[in-house]
Amino acid sequence: MMLLRNFILVMGFAILMILSSCTYDNVEELYPSPPSCDTTDLTYSKDIGPIIDASCAGCHSGSAPSGNISLANYNDVVISAQNGSLLGTIRHENGWSPMPKNGNKLDDCSIKKIETWVESGTPNN
Ligand code: HEC
Repeated sequence: MMLLRNFILVMGFAILMILSSCTYDNVEELYPSPPSCDTTDLTYSKDIGPIIDASCAGCHSGSAPSGNISLANYNDVVISAQNGSLLGTIRHENGWSPMPKNGNKLDDCSIKKIETWVESGTPNN
């Protein structure tokens, strides 16, 4: 009789341990740490160009680009990067038209990548 009670106690304890370890795993899945923004080893072709193409070039390319500003290729984007309008518009700073026009502000990581690229001298890589 004593033996059976001990057996039940031990099994109960073991089941509790298994259940609590599952719960612990789930908590980690429910509250993941925020995704980090990797701004190391940025290249124009892999990182910056695709952001501009997806969010800006639709209006800022072709024979009549919006605002008479083309962002169709590297050389065009560098002009806006160097006169300050690229960062001014995507950060929604005073004195610049907020871009993308009538759209959502770029996500923080995309803005951070473009800032890093401009600060590192707009490399064509
Ligand atoms: C839906 C069309 C549209 C999109 C998308 C768009 N623009 Fe524009 N952009 C315009 C228009 C139109 C103007 C002319 C000025 C105005 O109307 O505000 C302009 C003006 C600008 C200017 C000059 C602003 C100034 O204050 O001198 C810059 C720089 C610019 N856009 C950059 C961008 C960048 C960078 C993106 C992408 C993040 C972008 N635009 C996306 C339509 C667009």
